[in-house]
Amino acid sequence: MKPPRTADAPDALTDPPHSPGFEPTPNPEGEMMWRSSPSRYIAKIHMETRKEVLRPIDPEDLLVHAHRDKNPMEVAAQFFASRAIQLTGNESFVRKGLRRINAAGTAVAETLGAATGSETVETQAKKLLGVGERDHFYRFRELTRLSEKELRERIEKLQKDAAALLRARGRNPKLVILLTGATGFLGKEILVQAASDRRVAHVVSVVRPKTIRDPKTKEVMKVLTPAQRGAALLRRLGMTGQKAAKFRFIGGDIEAPDLGIAPAEIVRLQKTVTHVIHCAASVAFDDTYENSYRANVLGSRNALEFALSLQSAKGSRFIQHIAIETSYIHGRKKRSIVQESALTFPRNFYNNFYELTKAMASIETDRFLVERGLRVSQLLPSIVIGHSRTGNNRGDTKVVNAPINAFGRAKEIIDRMRTDPVGRAKAWVVMAFALAFPSDRSAELNLVPVDRVVAGILAALTAPASIGERVHLATDNRLRAEDIVRICKEEIGIDIRLADPTLFRNVTLPVVKAALERMNQPKLANALSKLGTIFGGYGEWGQPVHDVGNDVRVLGLVLHRPSTEFAFRMLCRHNRFVQEFGQIRDEEEIARREAIWEKVIDRIELRTGRQIASIPADEFRRLMTQDLDVKTFRER
Ligand SMILES: NC(=O)c1ccc[n+]([C@@H]2O[C@H](COP(=O)([O-])OP(=O)(O)OC[C@H]3O[C@@H](n4cnc5c(N)ncnc54)[C@H](OP(=O)(O)O)[C@@H]3O)[C@@H](O)[C@H]2O)c1
Repeated sequence: MKPPRTADAPDALTDPPHSPGFEPTPNPEGEMMWRSSPSRYIAKIHMETRKEVLRPIDPEDLLVHAHRDKNPMEVAAQFFASRAIQLTGNESFVRKGLRRINAAGTAVAETLGAATGSETVETQAKKLLGVGERDHFYRFRELTRLSEKELRERIEKLQKDAAALLRARGRNPKLVILLTGATGFLGKEILVQAASDRRVAHVVSVVRPKTIRDPKTKEVMKVLTPAQRGAALLRRLGMTGQKAAKFRFIGGDIEAPDLGIAPAEIVRLQKTVTHVIHCAASVAFDDTYENSYRANVLGSRNALEFALSLQSAKGSRFIQHIAIETSYIHGRKKRSIVQESALTFPRNFYNNFYELTKAMASIETDRFLVERGLRVSQLLPSIVIGHSRTGNNRGDTKVVNAPINAFGRAKEIIDRMRTDPVGRAKAWVVMAFALAFPSDRSAELNLVPVDRVVAGILAALTAPASIGERVHLATDNRLRAEDIVRICKEEIGIDIRLADPTLFRNVTLPVVKAALERMNQPKLANALSKLGTIFGGYGEWGQPVHDVGNDVRVLGLVLHRPSTEFAFRMLCRHNRFVQEFGQIRDEEEIARREAIWEKVIDRIELRTGRQIASIPADEFRRLMTQDLDVKTFRER
C-alpha cells in the first residue's frame, strides 16, 4: 500500500489557505472568492521566485481551453504536431520539437524587444507568434507534514479498525448502506446488485424531490417526493416483495449540511449505518464552475462530514465511507501511465470543470482520511458505459452515449433527405460535415461497463484494505478512435470521419453550425456543436493512460476485465434499437424495452451457443428480428 499523495489545505471552508499574506478578495456579490475558489486546494507558483502568487485562482485558468487556440500560429503548430504524432507515433519527440519552435520564437521576440528597446514590442511579438513561457505553474497544496512512514501507519490503523469492526459482525454482516445518487446511472445498478447481495441487509437512499414541468410552457405540473421517486424506481427495476423491502428512500440534498437529512432520521441512521456510498454528483461536462463546485466539492465535503459524524456517534455501527470519483481527476498530461495512488496537478490542465471539481473533491477526501481519521476508500471509474452483456443503461444518455445518439440521429435525417435530388445534395453536405468527430486516430478511450464498476463498489464494502487507496475502475483493453469508427460503421451503418481536433474546433465546427442552421436543422446544429466542444478534448493527443491493478489486488475483482470492444458494440446495438438514439426518453418505456431486450439476448445466446457481442452485426440483426418486432418492441 502506498500512502496517497495529499495536499495542504485549510481546516474549514472559512479558513484561508496557510500561506501567509493570503487575503481573500470579495467577488461582485460580496462573497469571499476563495470560499469556492480552487485556491483552497491548488497553489499558483511564480516560475522564477518559486513563491506562491497570493491571489485567488481563476478556475478558467485551470482548463485546457484557456491556454490554446490563441492565435493562428499556435493553431497551425497544434495541427502539425497532431499530424507528426500520427506519422511518427512518438509523442515525446513531437513535444521536444514544439518546445524548440517555442524557444526559437521566444528568441526572435526577445531580439525584437532588445532592438527596439521596448518591452511592449517583445510582448506583442510573443503574442503574435504564440510563444513564451507562462510565468507561473500550479500544484496541489501539500496536505500534511507527516512522513511517508507516519502516513502509512495512520492508514494501516484505519484499515485494521475497519477489519476488526467487520469481523465483529460475523459471517452474515447484515450491512446497512446510506447511498447518495440512487436515481442516477451508477446508483440504479448499485440498487440492482445490492438486491441480490447477501451481505447487504438494507439500503437507505438520500433522494431530492423532483419537479416535473410542462415541456413547452415550463409550468410546474407536479413535484415527486423522495418516497414517490423511490417507489417508481423500484418498480422500473423490477423489484417487488422481499427484494423491495431492502430499500428505503429518504429526503435530502447533498449540497446541504448533514446532506439535508431530517434530525430524527439522523438519530436513526447513527445507530444503524455501516457504510456510506457517496455516488451523487453533477456529471455535466459543460456546467459552470459554481454549479460543479457545489455538487462535486461541497456535496462530497457534506457527505464526508456526515460519514465522520456517523463514525464518531455514540453506539456507532459505522465501518467505512466509499467515495465515487473519476479516473479523469488526473486531467491532461502527456501520454504516460498515471498511477492510481499518485495525484499531481496535470501539466496540461483539465478538460472541464467536472474533472477539476472531482479532483478537488478527491483532495478533500484525502484530508478527511489523514487529518480527521475517516475510514474512506476512493473509487475512480473511467468512462462508464452500459451493461457489458446487454448494453442496457436504464435510459442514460450521457458521456459516450451522447455522440453515438447524435450520429445515429444525423444518419436518420440523412436517410430521410435522400428522397429527391435537392435532398440528396443536402444529405451530402450533412454527411460531409456532421459525421465528423474531432479525434486523433491514435486517441484511446478508457471505457468500462457499469456492471464491472458496481461490482467494484460493492466489493469495497468488505475490503478494508481499500481504505486510504485510490482504485481505478477502468479497463486494460482500451478502444482506439479507429476501432470506434469501425464498430459504428458495422453496427449503425454510419461513416464517421475522424477530424483533426484543432482544425475541427477552429474551422469546421463554426462552418457546419452555420450550414445546418441555414438548412433548418437548428437542433442537430446545436447537438453537434455541443458535442464537438464538449468531447473534442478526449480525442486529442496528450492523454494519460489510467493504470489499473488495485481493482484486482485490493478489491478482489476478477482479473479478466470485460472486453471493451464487445461492450461498445452492445452500446451501439442498444442505443439504436432500445433507445432509438436517445429519442425514447420515457423511463417506464425504457424499463419495458430493456427487460425484453435482455430476454431476446438470452434466447439468441442459448440458441446459438455464442456470446451475443461476438456475433457479427448483420447476423445479429437477422437473429434479433426473428425474436423481436423492432417497431412495436414486442417479442414475436
Ligand atoms: N457516468 C460516468 O461515465 C462516470 C464516470 C466516472 C465517474 N462517474 C462518477 O460516478 C458517480 C455517479 O455518476 P452517474 O453517471 O450515475 O451520474 P448521474 O446519472 O448524472 O446521476 C447523478 C446522481 O446524483 C444525484 N444528485 C445530483 N445532485 C444532487 C443533490 N444536490 N442532492 C441529491 N442528489 C443529487 C442525482 O439525483 P437526481 O435524480 O435528483 O438528479 C442522480 O441520482 C459520480 O460521482 C460520477 O462523477 C461517472
